Amino acid sequence: MSVVTPASEGSLSTSVPSFAELGIAPELVSVLARRGIDAPFPIQVATIPDALAHRDVLGRGQTGSGKTLAFGLPLVSRLAGRRARSTHPLALILVPTRELAMQVHDAIEPLGRASGLRLKVVVGGTSFPKQIDALRRGVEIVVATPGRLSDLIRQNACNLEDVEITVLDEADHMADMGFLPAVSELLDQVKPRGQRLLFSATLDRGVDGLVRKYLDNPVTHSVAPATASIETMDHHLLLVAHDDKAAVTAEIAGREGRTIMFVRTKHGADRLTTVLRRQGVAAGVLHGGRSQNARTKTLAEFREGSVPVLVATDVAARGIHVDDVGLVVHVDPPGDPKDYLHRAGRTARAGENGTVVTLVLPHQEREVDSMTRKAGVKPLRTRVRPGDSGLADVTGARRPSGIPLPAIPAGGEVVSRYGGSGGASTSGGSRTPRSGSYAPSSSGSARSASGAPSARSSAARPPVNRASRPR
Ligand SMILES: Nc1ncnc2c1ncn2[C@@H]1O[C@H](COP(=O)(O)OP(=O)(O)OP(=O)(O)O)[C@@H](O)[C@H]1O
Ligand SMILES: [Mg+2]
Repeated sequence: MSVVTPASEGSLSTSVPSFAELGIAPELVSVLARRGIDAPFPIQVATIPDALAHRDVLGRGQTGSGKTLAFGLPLVSRLAGRRARSTHPLALILVPTRELAMQVHDAIEPLGRASGLRLKVVVGGTSFPKQIDALRRGVEIVVATPGRLSDLIRQNACNLEDVEITVLDEADHMADMGFLPAVSELLDQVKPRGQRLLFSATLDRGVDGLVRKYLDNPVTHSVAPATASIETMDHHLLLVAHDDKAAVTAEIAGREGRTIMFVRTKHGADRLTTVLRRQGVAAGVLHGGRSQNARTKTLAEFREGSVPVLVATDVAARGIHVDDVGLVVHVDPPGDPKDYLHRAGRTARAGENGTVVTLVLPHQEREVDSMTRKAGVKPLRTRVRPGDSGLADVTGARRPSGIPLPAIPAGGEVVSRYGGSGGASTSGGSRTPRSGSYAPSSSGSARSASGAPSARSSAARPPVNRASRPR
């Protein structure tokens, strides 16, 4: 395997080749220009020529560094003008989550359209008949999560034997045990000598098995070390007492601007969202237990700005791009250093600035220290209490209004009246969650702005979580 590592990421200089010089057709360059994309980013400079030359490529570039176009542009270029047989796509992009599939589709679709190519998103939680119908009419590029694609193949609605180009986005995650069996089964079905492109911000040895089995003399492009910190991203550990965590969380959520708050569990995400909304923070929730309609709507509202705070599980940790997310908060510490980097990478994308804070309870300090060290970041440590100026300096924290907003029911739609009907409640908290995961303490919430109900009053009922669905 050949390895090519350009000098450094972000070193845009006058010597950077243009998209045209990389071999991208004028009609695609025009589509990019209309979106304000004028010069290629380093990962694109590094990988596009090899991908256009039909090489198998392993591409590692930091979060927000433009990997989608790094595989999307050569893929579209290679297929321009081609026509797929009914149910027989020519290219397959596999991603871990439905939202990422939709986003990748939206990024590549205008390029495909300019090249006469049809794209279709194939993910769970959405209409089978529409996907079957589109595949029957013919689709050149399928963007899919593995589960739904496998279902469609079993129903003879899709056949991968014509697939010439296969992309694994978030490849290291796709090589994790949860995905590997389905991913391998799909790779076994694509055209044997086809091209394979594997990309991730944290492409590591976890992909070795896939590389050995499915890639042919791949070239590796790593435009930054795996643990290189993103220059425009600030990292902070906020050391907080257990009883203060809920109030500190609410004050951070009360800041201006877009904020993503990551928690460990679906239950914790629902609970935090409920508590925040009761204190007047327009928070939305995204996790794998909600209906796809609700997930799509929440993300759209977050993108368009009516919901400035997104409370999410790791379903939103990988690949999701929303402009101007100024702050990422690990309300619960992430599971491992890779999760830290991917969650953090929802801010400071494409050269923008961003701040990442981790709320650290006393018993979590050692674990979090070790994780940030392994993630290659050097966070500043600040001990914080509700109302602290230090907390406001780092995060822009301010007290929420205290004027309750309607609750969001478990399924998704906002109910018309604060408090809603019993079945609509997503609150919880009467059970003790695993140590360290988000649990509003009554003392913490009682500190919130006057008029806000206490967490105690919102914690009477157990959560009404839907059964877990495939992501
Ligand atoms: N050459 C470019 N010039 C300007 N903006 C670009 C360029 N390439 C990509 N972008 C923009 O950068 C943003 C991040 O790109 P993208 O989502 O592909 O990042 P990524 O490397 O896949 O990140 P992650 O690892 O989080 O998935 C997007 O808004 C995209 O439109
Ligand atoms: Mg990406």
